[in-house]
Amino acid sequence: MRHSACVRGRLRDIVAIYPGSFDPVTNGHLDLIHRGAKLFDRLIVALARNLDKGEPLFPMEERVEMLEAMTAELQNVSVEIFDGLLVTYCIERGANVVLRGIRAVSDYEFELQMALMNRKMEPRVETIFMMPAEKYSYLSSRIVREIARLGGPLAGLVPEMVEQRVRRRVAQSELSAVTSESKPKGRA
Ligand code: PNS
Repeated sequence: MRHSACVRGRLRDIVAIYPGSFDPVTNGHLDLIHRGAKLFDRLIVALARNLDKGEPLFPMEERVEMLEAMTAELQNVSVEIFDGLLVTYCIERGANVVLRGIRAVSDYEFELQMALMNRKMEPRVETIFMMPAEKYSYLSSRIVREIARLGGPLAGLVPEMVEQRVRRRVAQSELSAVTSESKPKGRA
């Protein structure tokens, strides 16, 4: 199609990084990845290691595995893990754009702070915000984890394969909590 070729032409040679914790990947993340893949030449979905966010539901490697499975059909999308500052990683990977999703006004303050701080540290990298489909505007990994722990429905929030893994993980962590509670306590 002539129109879409023209639009893509303007964004040629743009490598974008879509960073996050993806614990777990949701349909909202996947919506944004599909939008980004249409716009940029290359999109690297980058999982940040060592975030100060407490105990994750999934180890990094399993999050990568799920993201890779969910993006396998997108030729210009890859999945990586990064350590340290996002902007340093962008320069190392030759990326000129950070892609972030904005769902509601409540996201804006934190995202603005992060984008401006990243720009101050590295003016060569621009942050581009995109909105996921409206039906995902209330969706987050944190809400998915909470609903799963309380036994609520996850259909439509995450892909089926992710739902099965989330259920398994939650069951495992509940089992290990019960087992550790029933173990005799050692002397303090
Ligand atoms: O999915 P999240 O948890 O909202 O993603 C946050 C993330 C990973 C994008 C952010 O914490 C980040 O960029 N971490 C890397 C460390 C860094 O560069 N921190 C300075 C940000 S101004």
